[in-house]
Amino acid sequence: MLKLALALSVMSIAGLGGIVQGQTPAELDKRVQAFLESRRGTWHDLNVPEVDGRTLHDLILRNKYRHAVEIGTSTGHSGIWMAWALAKTGGKLITIEIDPERHRTALANFREAGLADYVDARLADAHELVPKLEGPIDFVFSDADKEWYTNYLRALWPKLAPGGCFTAHNVSGRMRGIGEFLEALERLPDAKTTIDRRSGAGLSITYKNPAPGERGS
Ligand SMILES: C[S@@+](CC[C@H](N)C(=O)[O-])C[C@H]1O[C@@H](n2cnc3c(N)ncnc32)[C@H](O)[C@@H]1O
Repeated sequence: MLKLALALSVMSIAGLGGIVQGQTPAELDKRVQAFLESRRGTWHDLNVPEVDGRTLHDLILRNKYRHAVEIGTSTGHSGIWMAWALAKTGGKLITIEIDPERHRTALANFREAGLADYVDARLADAHELVPKLEGPIDFVFSDADKEWYTNYLRALWPKLAPGGCFTAHNVSGRMRGIGEFLEALERLPDAKTTIDRRSGAGLSITYKNPAPGERGS
């Protein structure tokens, strides 16, 4: 009996047998769904609308991304959606927030949702930290200060893996920096951009094309 319990706990730690860090995928799904349900309509810290959170989740899951970066955590709504997908792909999210109170709340939210193991939440100024981030990176969600979007793109695009994706929020508005950012996206030689406008905010989705020879058949 003791041996069986030991074996099960080792499997649990190793992520074997469908058990991931103490929770089966089904248990984690239930926990995250319950968390999101309990918080629906209560996200008031410039958080993304649910439709955009779900899109980020689906992009990561569909493309099996594993190395994600978010600029602008706030209290963690978009982070919850992305970390949920990364829990399924075996990945992790680095998310950056400059406001200590929001960072603290986000940490508590990641824990409550059962997703803390899939998030590396940094309290930092993204202007300084983003250029220092090391690859590989395959997914970026830019959602902090809009006038710095072009700088974030310049810093991270070279580190983005072929087939990777750079997304940014609020590109439909006329906020300072957005025009310049959209022009920078257009000028990227190896990219394809679409804008998802369902929430009204505008979510730009830019794929870095796979290098020749790395394209699927
Ligand atoms: C639109 S909110 C992010 C919402 C979050 N992505 C969500 O959906 O839950 C933007 C956040 O970026 C943070 N921010 C602004 N400038 C920043 C900087 N230079 N470095 C890090 N965070 C920054 C703000 O404090 C704010 O919490």
